[in-house]
Amino acid sequence: MGQILNDAEFQMFKDFVYRSSGMDFNQKNKLRMEFKLKDRLAELGYKDFNSYYAFLNKRSVSADIEVKVLLDLLTVNETSFFRNSGHFKAYTDTVLPELFEKKPSIFTKKVAINIWSAGCSTGQEPYSLAVAYLEKAGLKASNMQMQIYATDISETALSIAKEGNYAKKRLQNMPPNVLKKYFIEHEDRIEVKPEVKKMITFMYANMKTSTYLRGLDVIFCRNVMIYFDDAMREHAIKEFHKALNPGGYFFIGHSESLSKYKDLFDFKVINGGIVYKKIGD
Ligand SMILES: C[S@@+](CC[C@H](N)C(=O)[O-])C[C@H]1O[C@@H](n2cnc3c(N)ncnc32)[C@H](O)[C@@H]1O
Repeated sequence: MGQILNDAEFQMFKDFVYRSSGMDFNQKNKLRMEFKLKDRLAELGYKDFNSYYAFLNKRSVSADIEVKVLLDLLTVNETSFFRNSGHFKAYTDTVLPELFEKKPSIFTKKVAINIWSAGCSTGQEPYSLAVAYLEKAGLKASNMQMQIYATDISETALSIAKEGNYAKKRLQNMPPNVLKKYFIEHEDRIEVKPEVKKMITFMYANMKTSTYLRGLDVIFCRNVMIYFDDAMREHAIKEFHKALNPGGYFFIGHSESLSKYKDLFDFKVINGGIVYKKIGD
């Protein structure tokens, strides 16, 4: 298909994607959208953007499925193990010990520590949270309950996450002892051990339309809200605030900021990592 996406068509898809997911495409990423749309149209045999758009707007199960496929195609899933080491230092040296003290009944499995990796992509973030916790809890881990919820809008990313099988060449920040303990090594790949996998519940969730979780002690939502506009970002931040327990911790990407939400979150620098702590109930 040699056609280019004209400005009116771009605006039409941009609005549709925003309404469906909160992802905000601007002129800078118009070409990316055009490439992705063209590929999908060719795959499905559509001759032009308008007929594909009409199909997306049909009230039918197949149109709903196609909307999910389209949103999945438009996501950026870049991630890595222990991304932003300062965050993981703050998590293991300060946040987890504080939680162990605050919730002593976790040592008898009466209550769990609840963590949410929102926009978990292909799983490296929640697996890093799980193994960092296991390292910190040590022998006590077998008497404790830790539940990690990991959600994303991309089913493709989620299926890689659930599989937990990764190329060895993308392990830049992985400490060698962690690799040895919690992964099975194959020739050029590594596989997450089943005892780590079972700590994580992977689920589809769209931050624009899905109900947010509640009762979380820690939320990681890093490098996700950068794809949103101000209104959608505000919606997500307010929902994350409600999702956290009093005093809960919120980690966002290092290029992001909550300076507009000083009434909701306290800003802290812990061991060089920037973290936010919920204010209020
Ligand atoms: C760049 S990745 C970040 C992965 C990980 N949090 C990290 O920092 O390494 C952004 C992820 O956000 C997801 N995402 C984007 N919009 C979303 C939405 N509306 N609801 C849920 N996930 C979304 C994408 O599918 C993608 O996997």
